[in-house]
Amino acid sequence: MIEKRKIILDCDPGHDDAIAIMLLGAFPEKVQFAGITTVAGNQTVDKTFFNARRVTEYLGLDIPVYRGCEGPLLRSPVLADDIHGETGLDGFTFHDLKRSPETEQGVLWMLRTLREAAEPMTILATGPMTNLAMALRLEPEIAGKIREIVFMGGAMGLGNVTPAAEFNMFADPEAASIVLSSGCPLVMAGLDVTMQALCSEQMISRMAGRNNPAARLFKDTMTSYCAVECKTYNVTAAPLHDPVAAAWLLRPKLIELKPMHVTVDCTGREGYGRTYCDYYGKGGGRANCRVALQLEADAFWDLIEEAICRYGA
Ligand code: RIB
Ligand code: CA
Repeated sequence: MIEKRKIILDCDPGHDDAIAIMLLGAFPEKVQFAGITTVAGNQTVDKTFFNARRVTEYLGLDIPVYRGCEGPLLRSPVLADDIHGETGLDGFTFHDLKRSPETEQGVLWMLRTLREAAEPMTILATGPMTNLAMALRLEPEIAGKIREIVFMGGAMGLGNVTPAAEFNMFADPEAASIVLSSGCPLVMAGLDVTMQALCSEQMISRMAGRNNPAARLFKDTMTSYCAVECKTYNVTAAPLHDPVAAAWLLRPKLIELKPMHVTVDCTGREGYGRTYCDYYGKGGGRANCRVALQLEADAFWDLIEEAICRYGA
């Protein structure tokens, strides 16, 4: 019996967020979207909201999309437009939207949906955690309706936006701190594991060869994203961050997890947004998070290709 997860995706599309949507949308027998909430991160919330609508409609996914918080809880706004561009999804041309936008505020929709859910739901967070933190502060008891929070963010080692911090954490450290201390079961896909999912030009050609709408989305978005990533970080292949977190929902055996106590630096100094992962358990804190260590990379790319093929010719 395949267990079907009902999920809320909280995201900031964003090229890799878009591929995560494509990945999960290909397996409706495993993942049922209650909806998508969007947050400021890779671009402004207006642009991430627009992009999530464009991607779901382009792929023919009937998923309601909601606009979340305007910006981080406390810190000054920071965007990743240096990577994702002016639109937040540079490189792909979409047709005009036909579906009218949802008007309910994303955090309020998230709370209503969780409150009304018959069973606790899974939340996949692939952007800054502003919406989630706001929901937990507005209704702390809502944590009881969250089965687990699977998030792309943080790192045991180096950051990618400062030497210390990964972008999703850096963009709203206080929000991340609220989520990390919420008591909700947590699965963290940090840079240590997402940097194992490296998308090369050869990988783009492999996926493009499937020659259908999802293949075109992958090809065009990844060509643009990889060119910028490779130039920015002086590498020859770009990490496909968010789909790694999404893949855990579909094939958990692809990723090795280790329980750890994880906190985030909110001091506002050079370590701002850094996640401290107590790998050896010597810090005395209770393990609040299962941290992803190892990815079966070949199987991950096979899963991406399988997802693309499921979108037909
Ligand atoms: O650091 C990588 C994360 O920041 C990804 O979620 C990417 O989409 C950006 O939001
Ligand atoms: Ca993201």
